[in-house]
Amino acid sequence: MRSPINLSTSQHLNPMNNVIAIDGPGGAGKSSVSRLVGRRLGYLHVDSGALYRIMTWQCLVRGVDTSDPAAVAALAADVDIECRPEDGAIAYYVGGEAPGDRIRTPEINAHASAVATVKEVRDRVTAILRAMTRHGNLVVEGRDITTAVFPDSPARFYLTASAEARARRRQKEEIEKGIANQSAEAVKASLLARDRIDSTRRYAPLRKADGAIEIDSSDMTLEQVVDAVMAALPAEWTAQGNL
Ligand code: DC
Repeated sequence: MRSPINLSTSQHLNPMNNVIAIDGPGGAGKSSVSRLVGRRLGYLHVDSGALYRIMTWQCLVRGVDTSDPAAVAALAADVDIECRPEDGAIAYYVGGEAPGDRIRTPEINAHASAVATVKEVRDRVTAILRAMTRHGNLVVEGRDITTAVFPDSPARFYLTASAEARARRRQKEEIEKGIANQSAEAVKASLLARDRIDSTRRYAPLRKADGAIEIDSSDMTLEQVVDAVMAALPAEWTAQGNL
């Protein structure tokens, strides 16, 4: 028989499934690393930042002022978000539609940190993330996954890199995806502005959790970072996966 569901605690929804938690600032390589670790293990990749981006996108679409916490809080309760496992990741649908690159624009970048400071937004996203453990083993990346969403996971990582390396990667990604064509300086300024808001906000600020393993990826290849994460996982996890 299943035990009762308690949404106020972190790992109790499905204690049978594993969660690898990866936090760090923008451009540190969290998405690429999480996706590859997920692929190696057969764990589902979860991009938690996309949920904050979806909330931000909906604010902009509906004309909600992102600097008005009460208005943003009201919207947070009202956004219809569906999560489905698809191709090794959790895919999001808003009102039945995939948001795609509409949540990756410089405009969303500029407003997302403000939206992510609102407690009601964070509570809603946290509940959505915890409920995902029912879909299987997960690799979850974000800013507060190791500190607030899954603080009990035995596999918690803080992935970082120099501001220059992060800006270079983000700029390359934006150009390759055709999302924007900003100078490295502009990308760096936007990243640093968001870092500041993310790490100084009142609720669940970005910080390295006690006991999390820190990896500085500035001078590492993607493969090296993935290997470092894999090497630090509990041995039983690397032996089984979802497969
Ligand atoms: O990782 P990203 O750039 O897609 O994140 C978008 C925004 O959401 C960013 O400003 C930080 C915020 N965020 C957060 O506060 N907590 C998370 N777990 C993930 C992202």
